[in-house]
Amino acid sequence: EQRCVVAVDGPSGSGKSTVSRRLAVALDGRYLDTGAMYRAVTWAVLRDGIDPADAESVAKIADNVVLTVGTDPRDPHISVDDTPVDGPIRGPEVTAAVSPVAAVPAVRARLVAQQRQIIAAEPRIVVEGRDIGTVVAPDADLKVYLTASEAERGRRRSLENAADLAATVADLARRDKIDSTRAADPLRRADDAVVLDSTELGIDEVVARLKTLVDEAT
Ligand code: C5P
Repeated sequence: EQRCVVAVDGPSGSGKSTVSRRLAVALDGRYLDTGAMYRAVTWAVLRDGIDPADAESVAKIADNVVLTVGTDPRDPHISVDDTPVDGPIRGPEVTAAVSPVAAVPAVRARLVAQQRQIIAAEPRIVVEGRDIGTVVAPDADLKVYLTASEAERGRRRSLENAADLAATVADLARRDKIDSTRAADPLRRADDAVVLDSTELGIDEVVARLKTLVDEAT
């Protein structure tokens, strides 16, 4: 079967996860959620009572944990040292601490290496994150930068989490700021990425457009 790597980057709440999973199913391929990996390391940092701002201790945790990452787009799972963490990594504690953990260069080096191994083992895969087109898979067959207005991203996330809208928008803005201004592999559109603004597009529409782009690119 033909090799096909699709990189999907963009800010929080742009619809990356939903779209990437659906696209992977449509392509009959696998799916890698790199954000879940940063969240899993953050879960281990909190488990061990480490201060997320203590970069040296955080780097040690990242070096010592074993992340087991599933790539089924219909049912993705992740474990830390054999403990399934799919639920807790979406909780408010991890979400509040993940951006500083993901800003530590040693954490990124470790996770990027594992991500590249997973991609190398999977001939057809949709990979979502912040630095996939720029750092993890710069030779991807298709690079997508998925975005949406801050108001729309906040609306989607607060529906998803049944959370207060103003607090959700504030949290997205805070994470986006850390993610796009950090020194190590910041969120940035790759020069050769296709930009798709999903503010006024439904999921089906976005997936259909990306499917067409993949078919053209491969
Ligand atoms: O995509 P998600 O919101 O689950 O990502 C959680 C956090 O992980 C992001 O806010 C970002 O700090 C970090 N991340 C990253 N690089 C990636 C994916 C996620 O720094 N490729």
